[in-house]
Amino acid sequence: MESTRKRLIRLLDQKEGYISGQELSEQLAISRTAVWKHMNELKNDGYEIEAVQKKGYKIVSSPDKISGNTLQWGLDTKWLGHELHHYDQVESTQDVIHQMAKQGKPHGTVVIADEQVKGKGRMARNWYSPKGKGIWMSILLRPDLPPVQAPQLTLLAATVLAKMVAERSGLEPKIKWPNDLLINHKKVSGILTEMQAEQDTIQYIVLGMGMNVNQSREEIPEELHHKATSLRVEAGEEWDIQTTIQHILHLLEQSYEEFLKFGFDRVKKEWEHYGYRIGEDVTISTMKRTWEAVLVGIEPDGALLARDKEGKEEKLYSAEIHWGKGGYHA
Ligand code: BTN
Repeated sequence: MESTRKRLIRLLDQKEGYISGQELSEQLAISRTAVWKHMNELKNDGYEIEAVQKKGYKIVSSPDKISGNTLQWGLDTKWLGHELHHYDQVESTQDVIHQMAKQGKPHGTVVIADEQVKGKGRMARNWYSPKGKGIWMSILLRPDLPPVQAPQLTLLAATVLAKMVAERSGLEPKIKWPNDLLINHKKVSGILTEMQAEQDTIQYIVLGMGMNVNQSREEIPEELHHKATSLRVEAGEEWDIQTTIQHILHLLEQSYEEFLKFGFDRVKKEWEHYGYRIGEDVTISTMKRTWEAVLVGIEPDGALLARDKEGKEEKLYSAEIHWGKGGYHA
């Protein structure tokens, strides 16, 4: 059931001009005092609301600062993010959500911060997460799946980010194996998946997503200029962080449900559609050897599949991949 506040915003948004307190109270089936209280909460969350005697209320502007409330009001998911916690600053949203998972918070709980002071990347790297410039979000999932399928959820999450960018802009996102999102060959987003499992069951998964959204080029640390970018730099304009988050959660819930219903095959196709250098000739170096191959796609266990000149296929879990003058570590 849609919350009263959500319905209130919808009514205010829907109506050209003013809507009276009486009409709001009738439509929402709450008292005039309750309407007034909700209005005050909206103002606290940064909505600018004009109240004119005998006419009623009107939203003049929506907040540019995000909050747990404003994020939830525009969210059209069935379960994802229904429990949503927003913080101004945390060390890492991953740690916060691990704590919550241990306290028994439900599947679909979301933690978002404006800033992380100890953001974590893959392979024990730091993840730079400056205030208000990006999406720093962790999601708690409690899938009824064996641990071997956990990588599939990470690959799924990467396709969701790619789809979101493609749907909201003219940009052409690519996923660099296993789950970095690139735009024009530079990284805009990364995913860190952490799992708590026991033998054959996943206790919970934390899906951590970091996305550089509104950094200008100057705001990206100089040593990263050659390999990192932001949506703003690539699109040439600022992005609305709040609706971007809502879009991600909407697509993630949809893809997650489809994945449970129809299996990994759709995710695989989607991933390969966005896959960076998939179908291209590359040079692969592992600890043992270096050889020419074509990147074919991904495997259900999350491995990257390559085919050599003789047609022999090999699964890669870690390798250096080169093409022309470029290359990446996979
Ligand atoms: C990578 O190395 O590419 C993964 C980066 C993941 C960063 C996100 S931001 C939200 C969540 N909290 C963290 O501390 N890390 C992840």
